[in-house]
Amino acid sequence: MNFDNSISKELPRRSLLCGLGLIALGMLPSAAIASGNVKLLSDGKVEVLLSKNTALRKVGGVIQFNDKQGKSIALIRTTQSATGFRAINLSCTHQGVTVERTDNGWLCKDGHQATYAADGKVLSGPAKFDLRSIPVKASKSKVTVG
Ligand code: FES
Repeated sequence: MNFDNSISKELPRRSLLCGLGLIALGMLPSAAIASGNVKLLSDGKVEVLLSKNTALRKVGGVIQFNDKQGKSIALIRTTQSATGFRAINLSCTHQGVTVERTDNGWLCKDGHQATYAADGKVLSGPAKFDLRSIPVKASKSKVTVG
């Protein structure tokens, strides 16, 4: 995919379709996790075109990508509404290790095993705080994160 390099750069793909068939959110139907096909904007925000991120067409779909500062972020489709998205910072709130997706949430596998619900609420410590939400602005065709 080519982007205008003056304002963006393409992110490397990671975790390509690693979660297809997984349950993305415990309260939601099955979903896919895909690497994000996203554009980094000059203001530090991330633009996600829905036409290029088909995992987000269904409720429960998740994509993961890194922002300009290298933060790992998940964007989750929470409802079928045009504004039904939630973005969370995947840095564990205990000591900052990047959490990994599980069947029903997130696990700080490489840290100290804190667990979080699919929406980022902390379930078990040592983390004491939920994964941080990141503002999103959604329209029919795209979601801007940051
Ligand atoms: S860094 Fe995640 S539980 Fe310690």
